[in-house]
Amino acid sequence: MIKDVNPFVHELLKNVVSEMDYSIDATCGNGKDTLLLAKLSKHVYSFDIQDLAVRHTKKLLEDNNIFNVTLIKDTHERMSKYINNKVKAITFNLGYLPGGDKSIITNESSTVLALEDATSLLAKNGVITIIIYVGHVGGLSEAKAVEEFASTLNKNEFKVIKYYFLNTHLPPYVIAIEKK
Ligand SMILES: C[S@@+](CC[C@H](N)C(=O)[O-])C[C@H]1O[C@@H](n2cnc3c(N)ncnc32)[C@H](O)[C@@H]1O
Repeated sequence: MIKDVNPFVHELLKNVVSEMDYSIDATCGNGKDTLLLAKLSKHVYSFDIQDLAVRHTKKLLEDNNIFNVTLIKDTHERMSKYINNKVKAITFNLGYLPGGDKSIITNESSTVLALEDATSLLAKNGVITIIIYVGHVGGLSEAKAVEEFASTLNKNEFKVIKYYFLNTHLPPYVIAIEKK
C-alpha cells in the first residue's frame, strides 16, 4: 500500500533507527514525531521555537512515560551547538504548529541552515526526513530552497528522494536524504 506522508516517514525512521542510536526532531510541534523517535532511539534531541510546542511535547512524553528526550526551546539551525554525537535520524516537519499560531512558521533560510548542520551530524546509513507543505504563504519558496539544497548534495555521499502524490493539488510531500 502507498502510505501518506507521515506514515511514510515513520516507516523510514523505524527501518533506520535502533535503540543504540541518537536522533533529532528538528520541529517537535505537538510531539508525535518525538514520541516515535523516543520509542526507537537511545536518546532524542527535540527542538522548537515555541513554548506551546515544547509544552505539548513534554506533556505527550510524560503521558507515555518517556524519559529519553532533551527538549530544547531554540531554533533548529543551532542544533549542532547542543549535540556532539552523530545521529541516525533527523526529522523536519515544516510549516506551522497544528492548532497553533499559523503565523509562526519555519522559513527557508533557517531551514536550509539547519539542513546543512543536519547533514554533518548524520551518521553513516542515517536519514534526514523533511515533510514539506506548500499551501501557506512562504511554503513554496521554502520548498524550492529545500529542493535546491537537497539536489546539490554529492551523489557519492548521499541518496536523495522525493515522495510526491502526483494526482493531488499542492500536496504535502517528503524529501528524504540518506547518508551512504
Ligand atoms: C508542522 S509543526 C511540527 C509537527 C510535529 N513534528 C508533530 O509531530 O506534531 C512545525 C513546527 O516547527 C516549529 N518551528 C518553526 N520554526 C522553527 C525553527 N526555526 N526551529 C525549530 N522549530 C521551528 C513551529 O513552532 C511548529 O511547532
